[in-house]
Amino acid sequence: MECKYFKPSDEHEQCGSCNLGGMSYEEQLDYKITKEQQRFENFYTKPLEVIKSEDGAFRNRVEFRIFHKMGQISYAMNDTNRKLLPIESCSIVSDDISSLMTILLKKVQENNELLRKFFMVEFLGSTSGDMLVTMIYHRKLDEDWEAEARLLQDELNIKIVGRSRKQKLILDTDTIEEELTINGKKFKFKYQEGGFTQPNQKVNEKMIEWVLRNIDAKDDLCELYCGGGNFTIPLSKVFDNVLATEISKTSIRSAKLNCTLNDVNNIKFIRMSSEEFVEARTGVREYRRLKQEDVNLDSYNFSTIFMDPPRAGLDDTTRALSKQFDQIIYISCNPETLHRDLEELTKTHEIKNFALFDQFAFSKHIESGVVLQRKA
Ligand SMILES: C[S@@+](CC[C@H](N)C(=O)[O-])C[C@H]1O[C@@H](n2cnc3c(N)ncnc32)[C@H](O)[C@@H]1O
Repeated sequence: MECKYFKPSDEHEQCGSCNLGGMSYEEQLDYKITKEQQRFENFYTKPLEVIKSEDGAFRNRVEFRIFHKMGQISYAMNDTNRKLLPIESCSIVSDDISSLMTILLKKVQENNELLRKFFMVEFLGSTSGDMLVTMIYHRKLDEDWEAEARLLQDELNIKIVGRSRKQKLILDTDTIEEELTINGKKFKFKYQEGGFTQPNQKVNEKMIEWVLRNIDAKDDLCELYCGGGNFTIPLSKVFDNVLATEISKTSIRSAKLNCTLNDVNNIKFIRMSSEEFVEARTGVREYRRLKQEDVNLDSYNFSTIFMDPPRAGLDDTTRALSKQFDQIIYISCNPETLHRDLEELTKTHEIKNFALFDQFAFSKHIESGVVLQRKA
């Protein structure tokens, strides 16, 4: 993949986003495989399964700072010294985002209302061609901004959300439509701006298929950190009932909508932190939210817990609770906290499958998936 910001030059430092960008796709992947194979060798000695990414144009979600210099703007990333590096293009973003970047910048440059104190931009694209652009400002957004943003939205056929401190201005909608193909079957999703979405949809589809291939599906499923139902909805097809929890109100709203879109009726989505779920499950505290959703935790026959936590991994109580399930599926975006959590989980459970998903190609980050079964 060609990118002039991968390597430092006389003009600039290397872009700090793709810190393995100086390598070929295979080299950077081999580097990460070797590192993770060594990291996890005390738990798992078989070769890790590897799910590759496309080697360019794979990111459907990205954010850039806006760099202002003498009335001119450009996109900017942090370089390896954490200084702003102005960039004209980015080789890892989807083709839709890439072409929009150029035209959006030109239009904003020509329009003082949209230009003034424009600080940051987030692009969220989808495989169905939908595009949500969040424009973030260091000033209050007023009717004049709104009128100009509306014209831009219509001209570029995108959805714009304006944000500044304590302000969110939705022009028409703050949702985006996505369609995933999982084992040949189509699933529809609607995501609201501000909720979590996976950044590399092709790898995301392969992750969901990997879980479905390796899971021993029976009885009921308990899911923590479910986001907008990305894994939940495909997994609901192979379990009797699913109880899925998540801390973000925005994501739970999307998850419930996604259930309806896919005509799924065996999932209950509850807004609860994992810590709160542990308290409810262990009887430490009763939660009205469960009653309101007509959920009786004792009525479930859980065989499996599925967890896809943020980078911090599992807290102590969630880690302890997860050991009560016969099967544990753990998706992780941080090998360090995954390793810490496996120290404990492998005392009672054995790793059956372990895969690396190269969601964040050309960066040092990698996603992992582990299936654990209770030891005999
Ligand atoms: C890596 S994302 C995974 C989301 C989802 N599985 C997906 O594939 O889109 C982690 C999710 O955990 C949620 N989260 C963060 N801290 C949490 C907590 N303490 N309890 C429950 N959910 C939490 C975030 O809001 C986010 O949606």
